[in-house]
Amino acid sequence: MQTFKTAKSILELSEKLRQEGQTIGFVPTMGALHEGHISLIKKAREANDIVVCSVFVNPSQFNESADFENYPRTLESDIKQLKSADCDFVFAPPTDEVFPEKDTAEYELGEVARELEGAHRPGHFNGVASVVKRLLELVNPHRAYFGLKDYQQYAVIKALVKRYKMDVDIVGCEIVRERSGLAMSSRNIRLSNGGRDTALALYRSLREAQSALRAGKTVAQAESAGRVILKMVPVDLEYFEIRNRSDLSQPAEKTDNLIALVAARVEGIRLIDNLFLNME
Ligand code: PAJ
Repeated sequence: MQTFKTAKSILELSEKLRQEGQTIGFVPTMGALHEGHISLIKKAREANDIVVCSVFVNPSQFNESADFENYPRTLESDIKQLKSADCDFVFAPPTDEVFPEKDTAEYELGEVARELEGAHRPGHFNGVASVVKRLLELVNPHRAYFGLKDYQQYAVIKALVKRYKMDVDIVGCEIVRERSGLAMSSRNIRLSNGGRDTALALYRSLREAQSALRAGKTVAQAESAGRVILKMVPVDLEYFEIRNRSDLSQPAEKTDNLIALVAARVEGIRLIDNLFLNME
């Protein structure tokens, strides 16, 4: 496995691979890799000749500088895990290789970016769009892999690719959870043992909403049922919402295409999770 640090070198690599007729699968990450990330590498491995992973903590998507500074950086361990997962190339650039100048563009991402994370983290999706567009231009993959753990991010990236007519397939990959149900996240390592227990309430609240819907409750009642779970534990809830899976709009009726999404702080660490609400 080879590591690249410059924009020029990764661009040359992707041009060469394309000329050779090799298909490229790309997994963008911010490092501090865990099994969730590795599941994306495995998906990419199955469907492409070459797998490229980027490790870049993108400053423009953090709306709190402390969160950016405290974001775990574990490149050596990341590289080891990527090697074991049979990744071919890692792109781990310094900031000025990705953004030689500050990107001040406003990306048109539509309604799907406005609420939920969009409302609670102003500028976040613009920063994500900016870095993902740049990385896709450099790596020029046939397919790019994103986790459904960040469901709204996945929807926003699909909107980005459509809006800017980028020729890449965006593949959504299932959430990987710990045995306890806690969704894996690079931020989990900042939680104490007690905090990890508290954080289990997020998944519990999603499951509760699902059970309520299955038991014949309305969407509003199912939302209340989820929120009640989060009132019983020391978390700062930002939102708990049931939305249409297709565009994250508010559901006018109960369908088989709903998703529950939650964001809350545990010990000051912001966590998100979601669950597809299937009726059976
Ligand atoms: P990061 O948080 O490092 O996540 C990289 C990818 O791994 C994302 O697509 C995310 O959804 C996926 N992922 C994280 N935890 C997961 C889990 N438990 N199960 C499945 N997939 C999981 O998301 C970002 O980085 C950044 O915003 C990025 C897209 C790289 C742009 O900077």
